[in-house]
Amino acid sequence: MKPTVGSVVKLPKLKSEDYNESNDIARTLAEKTRSLRLYALKTAPDAFASSYEDEVQRDLTHTLDRLGTHNAAHFFAVDRAIDPWAEKRHNEFFAELFSAKFVGSMVIVGPLARESFSAKKGPLSVGADRDSTRGKEPSSEPSHYILNGTFVDPEARRSGFGRRLIEAALATGQEDASNRGYDFLCTVLVDSENVAAQALYEKAGFSVSGEEKYVQRPRAQMGESKSAEGVAIKLELRRALAAESKAL
Ligand SMILES: CC(C)(COP(=O)(O)OP(=O)(O)OC[C@H]1O[C@@H](n2cnc3c(N)ncnc32)[C@H](O)[C@@H]1OP(=O)(O)O)[C@@H](O)C(=O)NCCC(=O)NCCS
Repeated sequence: MKPTVGSVVKLPKLKSEDYNESNDIARTLAEKTRSLRLYALKTAPDAFASSYEDEVQRDLTHTLDRLGTHNAAHFFAVDRAIDPWAEKRHNEFFAELFSAKFVGSMVIVGPLARESFSAKKGPLSVGADRDSTRGKEPSSEPSHYILNGTFVDPEARRSGFGRRLIEAALATGQEDASNRGYDFLCTVLVDSENVAAQALYEKAGFSVSGEEKYVQRPRAQMGESKSAEGVAIKLELRRALAAESKAL
């Protein structure tokens, strides 16, 4: 394994009304996010159900909407050390972040209605934007989250960014579930031929819980002109609510 350099950062949320192109921070964030996403779709076309050809047609507003989704937390790996965000240093944090190269990403979305997560509905991607626990009393049902958009630049792979992204995303999801008084359940769908990603998730504690078929959008760079059927492996990780949180 190469020595780990750089940072993994959790994007602080802006005010919901700031996710528009006239806000400099939001626009730069969206530009960097969109360009990493398009690069991911180009360099790892077989890892995502969506295609470069589809996503390149979506404008910045689509990325801004995704960044502003209330129940999604975005994580980025960058090529230099960055101090964690703190409220007082809001502008400095973003200045530092924008001077770095984005080399990896991961999103955790939730809590979701369990039935809303399916490879057919949101193929290897974000599930429905629903909060299954809001307004309910805690029960034995866990609070359910999904991982999405996992990518590390080929030049930065095998140096621990994937592991650091997953650890940061899981910690955020678990804390959110715990604050709601629920066990934490996280799901991810991986193409059955994606050995590296399956190994990454299994190393982080996920286990295979099933598989489903999904529709893979045609990828021009792979010579495809029609959608194809793929098989997605479903992996899950469950962490129980700490006993002291249950007692509260
Ligand atoms: C999967 C991916 C994110 C891994 O990122 P990474 O930064 O290289 O991962 P890490 O260096 O943190 O590796 C963590 C563990 O994952 C596993 N792993 C990572 N790459 C692997 C590979 N090519 N083959 C086998 N196992 C691999 C190993 O267990 C590794 O631990 P180790 O280095 O101690 O052996 C990266 O290969 C990638 O972006 N692939 C293309 C996009 C993709 O497949 N996304 C997933 C969509 S579901």
